[in-house]
Amino acid sequence: MPERMKWTKDCRLGIDQIDSQHRLLFAIANELIDFENPAEEAPEFKFLLNHLRQYVNEHFKNEEKFMQDIQYPDLDEHIQKHQVIIEEINGLLKGVKSLDELKDRLEIQMNKWIKEHILTEDKKLQEWIQIVKKDKDTVQITAE
Ligand SMILES: [Fe+2]
Repeated sequence: MPERMKWTKDCRLGIDQIDSQHRLLFAIANELIDFENPAEEAPEFKFLLNHLRQYVNEHFKNEEKFMQDIQYPDLDEHIQKHQVIIEEINGLLKGVKSLDELKDRLEIQMNKWIKEHILTEDKKLQEWIQIVKKDKDTVQITAE
């Protein structure tokens, strides 16, 4: 039985909108993992796969907008990382011969695209927010 993707507390950034979207990405990924025989349920499998693609896109746009709003200094680098993931997803879809093969490859890749990205890249955003908060506090103290 393939391993479902596990959302853990350390994935939480403390930004409600982004955290909820990340959890939804896990949920869609797990729905795909749950298919025992994708070829037998091809329409549903393809629908969910397409949904994952669309939602990854939408979520990345949201996240990038948020980063822009808080003037995240590594935005360009982060956008590039998102771009690589999108290209990898598209590449994977093009390179496979059957839905079963696609599912096998997805199982390996989804963790990297979703969980690893959150834990390594999105987590840096959390550090930036702490710095911004500190700065605001300092400004407030000196302004008094
Ligand atoms: Fe991200």
